[in-house]
Amino acid sequence: MSKSFAVIGDPIDHSLSPNIHSAAFRELGLDSSYIAYRIPKGELEEGIEGLKKIKINGFNITIPHKIEMMKYLDKIDESCSLIGAVNTVANNDGILKGYNTDMDGFLEPFKKKGLNIAGDKVLLIGAGGAARAIVAGFAKEKARSTTIANRTIENATNLSNFAKTVGLDATPIHITDVGNTAKNYDIIVNATSIGLKNESSVISLEGINEKTVVYDIVYMPMNTDFIRKAKKQKATIIYGYEMLLGQAARAFEIWHGVEAPYNAMKKSLLGGF
Ligand SMILES: NC(=O)c1ccc[n+]([C@@H]2O[C@H](COP(=O)([O-])OP(=O)(O)OC[C@H]3O[C@@H](n4cnc5c(N)ncnc54)[C@H](OP(=O)(O)O)[C@@H]3O)[C@@H](O)[C@H]2O)c1
Repeated sequence: MSKSFAVIGDPIDHSLSPNIHSAAFRELGLDSSYIAYRIPKGELEEGIEGLKKIKINGFNITIPHKIEMMKYLDKIDESCSLIGAVNTVANNDGILKGYNTDMDGFLEPFKKKGLNIAGDKVLLIGAGGAARAIVAGFAKEKARSTTIANRTIENATNLSNFAKTVGLDATPIHITDVGNTAKNYDIIVNATSIGLKNESSVISLEGINEKTVVYDIVYMPMNTDFIRKAKKQKATIIYGYEMLLGQAARAFEIWHGVEAPYNAMKKSLLGGF
């Protein structure tokens, strides 16, 4: 029987997920379809009812519903309860189970490239929803410590407190206090939305070198100003699209129970840039 999947959110028309999943279906010859479905803020409950009526097999959730969606789940995977937000749902005969694939998606490029995290000092810029999944990932992989730099210091402090509850040593600072300290870290991550609109990076990468891993989770544009600055210092780069692919591959595996065709998904995604 054919299967149907969707991504819900608002705005949704520029989502790259339909292309990535459709490429995987073609590659494996699966009789499945994947659409982008706009559900405005405040209309999530009705939207979910509609998806259940058409017997959707699974869906991804993006801004602004990742936290509110938790209310409508019947079962919650550990990844989801840890992060407190859901980005992937599987529907088994009307029973909705929620997962969060952002943490595994974030870690996937480190694994693919054989890059170590254990014992590393991390500078994490940003303290929003994605940063929370990233903190959980660094805790899981036993990073030595993280400095959390954010525009709103309360959010950095809250995320640092969460980091400590999952066993990661964390220090909150204001984003402007990063100054010239980037060179003191092994891994530097941008988890803010700075770069989406081609803004300049607010962090100096002075003094970092080829051993420093610089990861920008913004995936559009691919070469943000932050990535360009890191390349000038010959740092090891991880692009935002690699996390996007990692979380999509994990969602695919939850829904279909087989290994995701990573290269076909990557090819379709890079064709979209
Ligand atoms: N590659 C992927 O697979 C992937 C996955 C998830 C998210 N993302 C991307 O990651 C970014 C963050 O997503 P999110 O869900 O964490 O969003 P969010 O919860 O809204 O958090 C946004 C973060 O960006 C900061 N920020 C926003 N505008 C800023 C500005 N002008 N100057 C300084 N800081 C600013 C916010 O700081 P305040 O706390 O001060 O507001 C906060 O730390 C988005 O661009 C999203 O597209 C990528």
